[in-house]
Formats: sequence, structure tokens, C-alpha cells
Amino acid sequence: MTRRSVILGTGSYLPERIITNHELSETLDTSHDWIIERTGISARHIAAPGEYTSDLGLIAAQRALEASGLEPQDVDMIILATSTPDHTFPQSAARIQAKLGVTQGFAFDQAAVCSGFVFALATADAYLKQGMAKTALVIGSETMSRILNWNDRTTAVLFGDGAGAVVLQAQEQATRGIIGSLLRTDGSGYDDLYVNGGPSSTQTTGTIQMKGPEVFRNAVTRLGEAVQDILKIHGIAQEEIDWLVPHQANKRIIDATAKKLGLPDSKVIHTGETQANTSAASIPLALDQAVRDGRIKQGDLILCEAFAGGYAWGSNLIRM
Ligand code: UT7
Repeated sequence: MTRRSVILGTGSYLPERIITNHELSETLDTSHDWIIERTGISARHIAAPGEYTSDLGLIAAQRALEASGLEPQDVDMIILATSTPDHTFPQSAARIQAKLGVTQGFAFDQAAVCSGFVFALATADAYLKQGMAKTALVIGSETMSRILNWNDRTTAVLFGDGAGAVVLQAQEQATRGIIGSLLRTDGSGYDDLYVNGGPSSTQTTGTIQMKGPEVFRNAVTRLGEAVQDILKIHGIAQEEIDWLVPHQANKRIIDATAKKLGLPDSKVIHTGETQANTSAASIPLALDQAVRDGRIKQGDLILCEAFAGGYAWGSNLIRM
């Protein structure tokens, strides 16, 4: 069977308001030099008051649909990767579905924090291959600013808001599309990166808590394995990779993964400097940027990877 899930269009959206490191250092005991040296981040976008995760995701989805040449009535599955839904329930994907004017199929949220898009892409691919749906919108959208403690310099400087989306369609005899995905979770890392609130525990939203160095060490090791294992499984050599499209948590983590793959920096898509860590939105944001500026072209082999709280991590191998 050569039914494959083919990416027909990409889209993204960043809120208007930009907060620079310099602006942050006016209210926090931090500095532009510390943030840029340790993370590669110099600015982040922040959603406006009243601008929700579904609003960001909707615009990214509309742009992806426009790029694909398809209409909302062609879409029969929407997966929204997010850890910052508008409300505890229902799924924010349902709101996006309604605002797009999609009246058929189904829509749900999927949470794997910063690995959310990698997990959602793998889920959509499995559903499409099985015939559960024909055309999917896979969206990563986050308002991380709403779950930050803005007085905690160890986390407040790291995150941003944004959304990205792809349109995926099941096609028979396809020569391009998703080749495969690798998903991993190790729940023993649960307490190293989590939000200290939730409906079942505190009945509050909570804020991000992170043991940074511990997460950093795990990310470098496990991402190195995730990218090498997926290539091995599919019999693809490192030199065949055209682009690494990584989750943008920290430039030093991305550099370590690229080094393990023997990839020069010119084959790595970086967006962290101006967007910071947008969690599940970072990969589709990076993908859309590189497609629109002409770097990623049809036929290119791309490798996506992400590491997240959970711990949850994984990779997707895609022929564009
Ligand atoms: O996307 C999900 C996955 N998330 C990640 O992958 C994040 C992984 N972790 C990291 O990226 C890094 O661990 C951080 C960027 C969070 C921290 O960098 P680090 O090099 O691991 O620094 P550290 O936590 O070891 O802190 C070093 C020093 C400490 O001061 P002392 O104890 O040496 O005096 C911190 O208090 O830097 C201090 N520090 C800061 N100083 C200025 C921590 N945050 C800041 C800050 N500004 N914002």
C-alpha cells in the first residue's frame, strides 16, 4: 500500500505584540546577554488580551487552507495540538472547526506539550492511512504567556505565543508525504517540567515549573536517539536529509541534535531567536516560514523533532 499523507499547504500566525529581552530585563532580574547566550532567544510574540489559542490557530489554519487550494468543506478531520486550550473543555479544535465553517467530520485536541505537533502529525497520518478521514488540518497553537509566572526569570524568558498548521491529504500511489513517525514517552520525568495547576488537582490553571538543566540533559540525549532511530527504521542515510525542522526550545539543544546528524547549520531551520519556545506551534511555524521563503521545496526530505514535558519526545520524517 502506498497511501500516504501528503502536505498540501502550510500556514502560521504570530500575535502582533513583541516583547524583547531588553523589555523583559526592565521588570525581571535578567539580561539580554544571559538569555541570548543560554538560549539563542532575543524576542517573543505575546497574544493580546482576549486573543485566544483558537483565534491564533484559526488564522494559521485559514492560511494553510489557502496555500493548499482546498476549501473548508474539503476538511474532515481537525487535530489541534495544544496545552493551552481556551477552556478546560470542550476541545478548542471544535471552536476552530465552527469558525472555519467546517460542518463534517470530527475535531479534537491533543496534548503532548512541546511535542504536541509531532504527536498530532503522527496521529493524523495513522487516521488518514486507515481511511478514518481524507483531508486533515493539523494545527499547533499555544498561548504559553497565560501559564507563565512573569516573576520567575528561569521560565518567563523562554516562551512565546503563536500558531502553525498544515493541510494533510491521503493520496494513493503517492511519491511524497509522511514517511514515518517515532513517538516516545517516559513518565518518570513528569515532575521535571509541569504546570502546577489543573482541574483535577488545584482547580486553578497554574504556572510552568521546570528543572531546566535536568530537562536540557534529557532533551539532548533523547533527541539524538530519536533522530538517529527514525532514520535507521526507514533505511535513510543522514546525508539524505535536506532540512532539520526542530522544536525551538533552545538553540544549544538544536545545535547538539544537528551535530549528531552531521548536518551543517545551513540545513537547520531556526526561528527561536524571534519567536522563543511556542511549544506545539514551533515546528509548524518553522516549517511554514521555510516553505514561504523558498528554502523548503516540494520533494525535499525533512526531519522534525521535539522534546517536551512528560517526558514526551519524537520525530517525523516527511517527503515534502
Ligand atoms: O520545550 C520543552 C523543553 N524545554 C527545554 O528543553 C528547556 C531545557 N533547558 C534549558 O534550555 C536550559 O536549562 C535553561 C535555558 C532553562 C537554563 O540554562 P542553563 O544553562 O541550564 O542555566 P541554569 O538553570 O543552570 O542556571 C545558571 C545560572 C543560575 O544562577 P547560579 O545558580 O549559577 O548563580 C540561574 O539562577 O543562571 C541563572 N539564571 C538566570 N540568570 C539570568 C537562570 N535564569 C536566568 C535568567 N537570567 N533568565
